[in-house]
Amino acid sequence: MSELKAVDTLRRRAPRIQPRVAVVLGSGWGALTEHVREPVCIPYSELDGFPQVGVAGHGGMLCLGHIGGTPVAVMSGRKHSYESGAVDGMKVPLRVLYALGCSVLVQTNAAGSLRSDMPAHSFMLLSDHINLPQRSPLVGEAGSERFVSMVDAYDPGLREVARECAQQRGLKLHEGVYAWAFGPQFETPAEIRMMQQLGADAVGMSTVPETILARHAGLRVLALSLMTNMGAGLSGEQLSHAHTLAQAQAIGGVASELLAAIIGRIQVAG
Ligand code: HPA
Repeated sequence: MSELKAVDTLRRRAPRIQPRVAVVLGSGWGALTEHVREPVCIPYSELDGFPQVGVAGHGGMLCLGHIGGTPVAVMSGRKHSYESGAVDGMKVPLRVLYALGCSVLVQTNAAGSLRSDMPAHSFMLLSDHINLPQRSPLVGEAGSERFVSMVDAYDPGLREVARECAQQRGLKLHEGVYAWAFGPQFETPAEIRMMQQLGADAVGMSTVPETILARHAGLRVLALSLMTNMGAGLSGEQLSHAHTLAQAQAIGGVASELLAAIIGRIQVAG
């Protein structure tokens, strides 16, 4: 069981840190690691079962430490479905963090906006998602727990904490539905119009598989998107990964300040 080995490694390397909140950093959110006090950082390559992450702009490091009074495990870099076609690339890391004591998963990503009132550099709290590929990282799991409810997948109490933090900082925090696109190609304008009609507010290539895995494990989930562009065909801009990263970087400082404030306010028992 690679999970047990990685748990063992982390307990040995950071014996005094018992993380309660797991964080996954997507494009634009990387500066959060600067808010981790006395971090112990371990490359994924030293953690059994952790993914090789090869996308520009996504690291491959787990940092344990504290943000405010909250003990955290921060993952810089995630495995995306478009890298290999597999959707369970984050299964082992999330199970390791659960075994270490995490009961909350905070996810972040960069996304394309489907709403004209939510331009690039806007923030959106996920209220729900649409699993457009209809793929699940739980395929092959045994037991009745695999039939996990996805109602309130994004925890109402944690969303309230996020809203309060944004309000205190005078930041507009939109709330809406995230559509998962398998990628790696961007969407066609027709697909974007379809997503709008289906009730999605933003589109991105991550987050949903991890939310499913986390709910299966019993973790509460909070997720935040940072808009880097309007969806294909909604503006004249040319979409590319470089454009996404540049836009994400431009607002990354504000994003990580907000995220650090939210994480510092999350209450976890134990
Ligand atoms: N589509 C999909 N994923 C994205 C986008 C987009 O427009 N922008 C950032 N991630």
